[in-house]
Amino acid sequence: MKRIKAIYPGSFDPPTNGHLDLIERGSKIFDELVVSILRNPEKDPLFSVADRRKMLEAMTESFDNVSVDTFDGLTVDYALRVEASVLLRGIRAISDYEYELQMALMNRKLQPGLETVFMMPAEKYSYLSSRLVREVAQLGGSIDCLVPELVAQKLREKMDVAHKFGSGQSVSPASSAPKSKSKKKKA
Ligand code: PNS
Repeated sequence: MKRIKAIYPGSFDPPTNGHLDLIERGSKIFDELVVSILRNPEKDPLFSVADRRKMLEAMTESFDNVSVDTFDGLTVDYALRVEASVLLRGIRAISDYEYELQMALMNRKLQPGLETVFMMPAEKYSYLSSRLVREVAQLGGSIDCLVPELVAQKLREKMDVAHKFGSGQSVSPASSAPKSKSKKKKA
């Protein structure tokens, strides 16, 4: 029987309980699932790729068929390289749909053999995004139940560093050096 390998690409900055929920669902229907972190030199992430990889590895260690990888360039090229036939993405609400549809259709144009599969996370995570988690954490709000404890701990460490270097600063980006200007980031 044909084994189905799927990739779950994204920024995961930081990974949330919504991501974990989707990973769990994906691991149940695909034989192999690779959580694939985009190495994007143009973005100014909060967490380095190495940090995100460590967090995701710890979060997914109980799933036998889930691994974590990083990639750059086109997602479709990466999928071809790792011999995945499915690209998994989460849709939380109608607002996600337009962007996701656009991406799925562009990816299909680029690589017709790669099928995008959308899954919905649990309803309780339908409002959750990495961008909001970063913002709430930066402004001192509670992120309990939004991210796994190890991610919450890493966010607290980031904030401690930011506070140490001066109040009113935003949480420092992946470089760990607090900056006076914060850039707007996508989820
Ligand atoms: O978690 P995100 O930021 O919504 O993930 C977006 C991601 C990484 C899946 C998307 O930006 C992507 O696939 N980037 C790689 C470059 C690429 O293939 N671009 C064409 C997409 S149609």
